[in-house]
Amino acid sequence: VHERPIGVFDSGLGGLTVIQALIDLLPGEDLVYLGDTARYPYGERTPAELRRSSDVIADHLVERDAKMIVVACNSATAAALDHLRSRLDVPVIGVVEPGLRAAASASRTGRTVVIGTSVTAASAVYEATAERLDLGLDVTTLACPGLVELVEAGRTDGPETLLRVRERLAPLLTSRVDTLVLGCTHFPLLARAISEVVGRHVTLVSSADETAFEVRDLLGRMGWLQPADHQGRHLYLTTGDPDRFEQLGARFLGFPLEEVRAHRFPELGDPPLPGVVQPAV
Ligand code: DGL
Repeated sequence: VHERPIGVFDSGLGGLTVIQALIDLLPGEDLVYLGDTARYPYGERTPAELRRSSDVIADHLVERDAKMIVVACNSATAAALDHLRSRLDVPVIGVVEPGLRAAASASRTGRTVVIGTSVTAASAVYEATAERLDLGLDVTTLACPGLVELVEAGRTDGPETLLRVRERLAPLLTSRVDTLVLGCTHFPLLARAISEVVGRHVTLVSSADETAFEVRDLLGRMGWLQPADHQGRHLYLTTGDPDRFEQLGARFLGFPLEEVRAHRFPELGDPPLPGVVQPAV
């Protein structure tokens, strides 16, 4: 099993923050990433839509022999994690539990705010999971629409970004939060602006890093880690434009992407790839 890749997916680029953490922590692991750009943004999809696309994508990663699946997106974790766990034979890890566990060890008072997309906030997944795990945290989630788009446009710093972040986080400025969970995979790229707005006394928790630790722990427990001398290979599939993915992806990761390929899911309504001959009906 240890030789098989880890399958990771997200709505597009955001999950690359999880990939970056995985590459840092587990350089020996082979990774197959599926960026579902055709259906971006997940933050505005219905839970039923996200369950459907998560099913199709996870099945594809399993067909590619993934030894485990990482749902590297808060919105998809909120909508589909339990559902995927109930139907797949491989372990499935989301980004919510790792983020909360990190918040629990970082927080002094327990007062924790999660910032995420509207889907994530509406699902109350962080509140419910914190209660289920009995972490002693007082969790509320603030929806921050518009910030994902800033990151996708590459505008992660500068005065306009600071202004938009300040507008979105205004409700926090009068609360006595001590720990802020970046409950959206794009937000680690805005960490500097967020920290400037909320103040440096507030601890920022990135679920990307914590998820990578959880992956390592799980693979270690199963005896499924690659040997230390193995050099991991990284394949990136996108349902959008591979050139654009490669370009923006390198900005997210801070280094060039090893191999990028286009992928289509006809079962989700994607048009066929140019040059692919459709079977006659
Ligand atoms: N990756 C999504 C998340 O973590 C944000 C981007 C999107 O809305 O597609 O919630």
